[in-house]
Amino acid sequence: MSLFRKKSLSLLLADAQNSEHGLKKTLSSFNLVTLGIGAIIGAGLFSLTGIVAAENAGPGVMYSFIIAAIGCAFAGLCYAEFAAMIPIAGSAYTYAYATMGEILAWIIGWVLILEYALGAATVSISFSSYFGKFLHNLGLDIPMQYFHSPFEQFALADGTMTHGIINLPAIIIIVLISLLLIKGTKESAFVNNLLVILKVSVVIIFIAVGWSFINPVNHTPFIPENDGTFGHFGWSGILRGAGVVFFAFIGFDAVSTAAQEAKNPQKGMPIGILGSLFVCTILYVLFSYVLTGVANYKDFAGSAAPVAVAIDKTPYVWLNQSVIIAILAGYSSVMLVMLMGQSRVFYTMSKDGLLPKLFSDLHPKFSTPYKCNFLLLIFVSLFSGFVPIKVVGELVSMGTLFAFVIVCLGILVMRKTMPDVPRPFKTPFVPLVPVLGVLVCLAMMLGLPLVTWMNMFAWMAIGFVIYFTYSRKRSKLNK
Ligand code: ALA
Repeated sequence: MSLFRKKSLSLLLADAQNSEHGLKKTLSSFNLVTLGIGAIIGAGLFSLTGIVAAENAGPGVMYSFIIAAIGCAFAGLCYAEFAAMIPIAGSAYTYAYATMGEILAWIIGWVLILEYALGAATVSISFSSYFGKFLHNLGLDIPMQYFHSPFEQFALADGTMTHGIINLPAIIIIVLISLLLIKGTKESAFVNNLLVILKVSVVIIFIAVGWSFINPVNHTPFIPENDGTFGHFGWSGILRGAGVVFFAFIGFDAVSTAAQEAKNPQKGMPIGILGSLFVCTILYVLFSYVLTGVANYKDFAGSAAPVAVAIDKTPYVWLNQSVIIAILAGYSSVMLVMLMGQSRVFYTMSKDGLLPKLFSDLHPKFSTPYKCNFLLLIFVSLFSGFVPIKVVGELVSMGTLFAFVIVCLGILVMRKTMPDVPRPFKTPFVPLVPVLGVLVCLAMMLGLPLVTWMNMFAWMAIGFVIYFTYSRKRSKLNK
């Protein structure tokens, strides 16, 4: 039975109140929305939009974004109810602890590592390729072996194929961001606000300027006909595309990991989670409409930098380098929020006794979980430097979708088991919204390749070994 022991709500709320020696409450509702946007707009928008347009959906990638947004909205509404009711840094891990018991909480905590830690690694790898382009435009050509992992093959300028050695820029950016996080949440939120302003501006400018360069020919037909294979254009392509661009929405849930640092989480959590999701959805739909109107979707084939492809079709080619800078800034804010979210989940798991105490030790001066940030720096750097982007990217989607499913189920359980607990925000249309959330997320999980499922099972196996040999005995609920 002890596998399913639950942490009582009163205990959880007492923990949240007891902030005297804990994380500082510094974040306003506005900070929370920018935190969300900071985590959301990144490699998904600036890289995957073009790939999905070229390979799956044509201009119909706009509909892929709308479908993925609807799936995320169901999960977002469930997250908002939980985060306002249980404002604890542990996010989905904590919600599972209160509703479904310790073993499920552990599983969620363990898969959130895939979302946050490996999410940061994925974006750092994409960062590295844009950074290489940036240096190249400046006339600095550093050997490309230092921009790729040893397991990646790529073509040199003369066409010969070779392997990478280490992805150095990816490691360096992870180190820099981890150091910023150690310095302080308030400082990190400030830097994040600047980065978000920069990247949102570039998206808005791209939409506004690009609008007048839309060539209606590029939008006809808006949904290219299916070529006979499932997922290659037509409506099946749009659906497959939705599973891929889902990555672009990952991050809104990271807002909930900052709940313990919010000035007024009851109000701030729903605003932060749903507000950031809403803003990004509008921007994504407009952005993809303009992108596929300025350039033909076929032009994006094989390019990880679709924005540059589109800009080349306008008289504003000189803008390219500044756009790359804004994109690099945008990527940095995604990594910042992901790494911050990860350290907060570990902080909570450590407070509960499931992880060693060093994960929740706070810096005497900065009040940040600095030892945890430091361990993460090493762990994430290993993936950034030595693992190909495809391997980590798909695992990120898998882990995130799994967490979403559990959160949606948690709402159903909690409404039954604790109907009278005060809920500052209520998910509308229960049970319909959580049930649809589960179904849409499961469908997207089934769309992921078999090898990702196998990697996920391997990851879970490691997690179970740690739980049964260490965490179970040391859980605070044992006492
Ligand atoms: N949504 C984030 C991105 O697209 C993870 O980079």
